[in-house]
Amino acid sequence: MAGGVTGGSDGTWSDRFEQGLHPFIERFNASIGFDLALLQEDLDGSIAHARMLAGCGVITTDEADQIVGGLETIRAEAASGVFQPGLADEDVHFAVERRLIALLGPIGKKLHTGRSRNDQVGTDLRLWLRRRLDELDPGLGRLQTALWRQADRHRSTLIPGYTHLQRAQPLCLAHHLLAYIEMLQRDRDRLGDVRKRVNICPLGAAALAGTSVPIDRRQTANELGFAAPYANSLDAVSDRDFCVEFTAAASLVMAHLSRLAEEVIVWASEEFGFVGLSDRCATGSSLMPQKKNPDVPELVRGKCGRVFGHLQSLLTMIKGLPLAYNKDFQEDKEALFDAVRTTRDCVEAMAILFEEGLTFRPERLEQAVEQDFSNATDVADYLVAKGVPFREAYQLVGSVVRHCLERSCLLRDLSLEEWKRLHPAFEGDLHDALAARAVVAARRSEGGTAFERVDEQLIAWSDRLDLGIE
Ligand code: ARG
Repeated sequence: MAGGVTGGSDGTWSDRFEQGLHPFIERFNASIGFDLALLQEDLDGSIAHARMLAGCGVITTDEADQIVGGLETIRAEAASGVFQPGLADEDVHFAVERRLIALLGPIGKKLHTGRSRNDQVGTDLRLWLRRRLDELDPGLGRLQTALWRQADRHRSTLIPGYTHLQRAQPLCLAHHLLAYIEMLQRDRDRLGDVRKRVNICPLGAAALAGTSVPIDRRQTANELGFAAPYANSLDAVSDRDFCVEFTAAASLVMAHLSRLAEEVIVWASEEFGFVGLSDRCATGSSLMPQKKNPDVPELVRGKCGRVFGHLQSLLTMIKGLPLAYNKDFQEDKEALFDAVRTTRDCVEAMAILFEEGLTFRPERLEQAVEQDFSNATDVADYLVAKGVPFREAYQLVGSVVRHCLERSCLLRDLSLEEWKRLHPAFEGDLHDALAARAVVAARRSEGGTAFERVDEQLIAWSDRLDLGIE
């Protein structure tokens, strides 16, 4: 119904308008195609608003009851599929109001007293994001728990540690996995902090300047569970910082998931072979029958770009806007919705991957750890313990490594006599000190990879994640 919303007593716009919208512009202008996602929040916000209007004596209690009843009818109609707004409704706010008026007649026309779509859309969006944040947090907790359970299984499994993707020093596998639990906790904390600024209520700021209608903004803010109303009406309708903040925090979640995903992809390769993928989370090749592909972590890594991109879109959207509301803001929704969906889905996919999609291969990991020079620092530390200055020890061990490389052998293959020739401080306990397990066990500094330190961390995280396990 091109232009059907314009003019006349049934129209959306006032009688100032004579002509309908150009059909293309009607489509171009509408957000109903995506903002119907805000329906529940729009109804919740309108119910609180109607009650407040009655509380302030702007409408009667009976009128408020009818309006609330009508809004609940719309909720039920939406649930049963009867409420199906179209392009002519432009957006969810108009769609609800028009349906309310159709249901109630003139009383329905009282709902929009003392508010505007500008404060309304801001309220809806904050309520929507607050709900999603409250779902995302336990999702992240589930992934932390999945990582914890793998870590718990691998308290004494070793894994090569890398810097520059070059073998550096061996690690306890649980220590490696606990690092991701820490990262995800920072994400949860950051999102919790974002929630504080999402949880401020713009309702009643009206179009931009407040309203002459005697409303009570604290009542609506309270009823909707907000911590407070915005102090400044202009700021209230112009603020989309919370969208940017959420998407920035979500970008870090995605970056963390992507780093973990990348490790799994590398670990699952033939060359590393540190993990095996279960059939639950891997796919085959249409051509090469031998293949098992890590699609889940690859998709997670690939989807980062969406969320990072939405962050750019949102920043760009707000950067040149004069106060107060500008239609540019309609662009916040698809970016925010997709950022939320993508992040939530990737968190869940990674949780499933660590719950039942992969198995670490301790024998392979053990083998890998024994076959390198990642105990070289420990030879230097051994000399330091015997009073040799670190830099001197470092140079000496460097030359020993070169010597071994020329002979195609490892440090542990040198005899004690050979070691003693290199430095008189070497003694019979050297070989034991060089074993990967001893090397890991020795790193007892706070936050280090020693088994006892890692056990402490596992217990601390079991408490924090409320796992009820010792
Ligand atoms: N659909 C609009 C949006 O998403 C609702 C607010 C419209 N306000 C206005 N003054 N045109 O931003």
